[in-house]
Amino acid sequence: SSSDDEGEEYLFKIVIIGDSAVGKSNLLSRYARNEFSLHTKATIGVEFQTKTREIDGKEVKAQIWDTAGQERFRAVTSAYYRGSFGALVVYDISRRSTFDNIPRWLDELKTHSDTAVAKILVGNKLDLDNIRDVTVEEGKKLAESEGLFFMETSALDSRNVEKAFDLVIHDIY
Ligand code: GTP
Ligand code: MG
Repeated sequence: SSSDDEGEEYLFKIVIIGDSAVGKSNLLSRYARNEFSLHTKATIGVEFQTKTREIDGKEVKAQIWDTAGQERFRAVTSAYYRGSFGALVVYDISRRSTFDNIPRWLDELKTHSDTAVAKILVGNKLDLDNIRDVTVEEGKKLAESEGLFFMETSALDSRNVEKAFDLVIHDIY
């Protein structure tokens, strides 16, 4: 939507992190443009998209950053995290190793972020429930112990995608 010159405006930076191919780029494209692709290329470097929400009559702009999960394609880490107020920390419920790596991503976030960050643990690919490799309880438990929100999502069928981003945006706001 266009900006309203009467009202106040808020701009929040949010980052998405997690292993390669967990669906970070598709979560973002689903949220920002309602698009999904089965043939996404691995992200190289950093991309971002902006989405405007209205909360309590105020225009809130979320600038959402997406980077490569693959180490060799990642941009300078501290620059990526700088100034972020929120984070989606993503794993793939059908791939155990992506869940086992979550503590590493949380460490990196803690090391490089300069403010308190609103965080949500996101178990993506909920549509692959039949080949699930991580239980809902495990996700919940990890989120609780680390003080994060928790949600399982599907960028493919859209389930909970908006909810996950909006939880973080509301918490920041
Ligand atoms: P990097 O950029 O390498 O870090 O990967 P990424 O985390 O951005 O993953 P990406 O969004 O590129 O998705 C990787 C693959 O998983 C693609 O083939 C997507 O189509 C697929 N994918 C993403 N989200 C979902 C989902 O919710 N369900 C299913 N079934 N597939 C998904
Ligand atoms: Mg990507």
